Amino acid sequence: MDRSSKSKPSWGESGICGLVLFRSTRMLVCCAFVYLLIGCGSDNTQGLTEVQLVTRGEYTWQLPAGFPVPTVQSDNPMSEAKVELGRHLFYDTHLSGNGTMSCSSCHLQELAFTDGRNVAIGSTGEHHPRNAPGLTNTAFNASLNWANPATVTLEQQAPVPMFGEFPVELGLSGKEEEVLSRFKQSDLYQNLFKEAFSGDAEEINFGNIVKALTSFERTLISGNSPFDRLTYRQDSSALSTSAKRGMDLFFSEKLECFHCHGGFNFTLSSTHESSSFVEKPFHNNGLYNIGGTGAYPPGNQGLFEFTGNLEDRGKFRAPTLRNVEFTAPYMHDGSVATLEEVVRNYARGGRKISSGPFAGDGKDNPYKSGFISGFSISDEEVADLVNFLKSLSDSSFLTDPRFANPFESGAD
Ligand code: HEC
Ligand code: HEC
Repeated sequence: MDRSSKSKPSWGESGICGLVLFRSTRMLVCCAFVYLLIGCGSDNTQGLTEVQLVTRGEYTWQLPAGFPVPTVQSDNPMSEAKVELGRHLFYDTHLSGNGTMSCSSCHLQELAFTDGRNVAIGSTGEHHPRNAPGLTNTAFNASLNWANPATVTLEQQAPVPMFGEFPVELGLSGKEEEVLSRFKQSDLYQNLFKEAFSGDAEEINFGNIVKALTSFERTLISGNSPFDRLTYRQDSSALSTSAKRGMDLFFSEKLECFHCHGGFNFTLSSTHESSSFVEKPFHNNGLYNIGGTGAYPPGNQGLFEFTGNLEDRGKFRAPTLRNVEFTAPYMHDGSVATLEEVVRNYARGGRKISSGPFAGDGKDNPYKSGFISGFSISDEEVADLVNFLKSLSDSSFLTDPRFANPFESGAD
């Protein structure tokens, strides 16, 4: 088969095609890794994608080549029915106190599940102090949120946007019964909950809502970027020569990027089913140094807010760089507009803010990581590095119908 002839390889299209295939093969693949080359499309040369089918219990994962299996909580095993219920809930504005917002209001598929804003805005108009992170491969994150070492499972994370009051996001607090009754009155949800949680005396409750949402989130896996085609599928033409030069820079000791954004998911803060030791590192990359004290803006001091240790000021989790092309603006507060700007700040060894309430030179932040020491880089090399970052884009993730809004026509 001629892989180079395909214009736009699509994990999404192959996923649908693969679904048919794995339904018939799932009995054969129990607890084993099976590599399949799935050809989809009219002439069978389009959308060629290598997929591992891995079965756990009654669920079969379709994982990109080279990817480990996500960790699943023992009291919330995956099932197709839970994922489908979770997808509906994720997109349903009935899951907000005033009926105006859903998870998807701040996590949009076309933006790799972020929202394009500097900081998120909740259902009652409150500004969140943080930028909404994308949900690419969120199942593999060792800790969730920008700087929260205590939130280590998606099940712990989901109630925060639902019930949190500082700030209000979905605003469900105090409206619990009203919100549940919306779902109880719906034939669609009665069926979806019954399918997903048959055997429970009263299926429609918040515990099950969280289980379904998190099952859906665990399917948001992206690994069909040009980088993946080069690395895991030996497609040497997947990257331009500029992006290849950028890759060498990214993995060089001069730029140090890979020390924090390493591994299959481009963050050291990763975990999966067979991780023996889970690291949850947080780093200060010199974004602020207000008044030369090492301070970050109030309400956004990073790990310090948890530990109270001064040396944890400004420490955040290094996010995955997969799909970073689509998730601007960048950093925990969306304060960096472009990838070029990100690279220039790293090259300086920290960001300089010349005036205003946050003025200070991040380069001299006393709590900055030793890996952020600055480097010289030419304009061409900046472009190369940005091209490499864009080679981590999996555009099929943005259109995959399995992740799309089920209430929009054509998506189901
Ligand atoms: C008002 C906008 C908003 C809504 C609505 C919202 N989120 Fe978020 N989400 C955010 C922000 C902001 C963060 C980062 C929070 C932080 O770091 O403190 C976040 C973080 C996350 C994370 C952590 C991702 C990671 O890798 O660290 C997950 C998972 C997530 N949200 C899922 C959901 C789910 C599920 C829902 C619906 C129940 C939801 N969100 C609703 C804005 C929102
Ligand atoms: C010391 C660890 C460390 C090193 C080295 C490092 N980063 Fe980061 N990176 C981080 C952390 C932490 C953040 C989030 C910081 C924040 O939000 O305040 C981040 C954020 C980013 C972001 C924004 C992602 C987003 O979704 O907002 C990009 C892009 C990025 N880094 C690229 C790079 C590149 C390119 C290099 C090499 C030149 C690099 N990083 C080196 C730790 C590091």
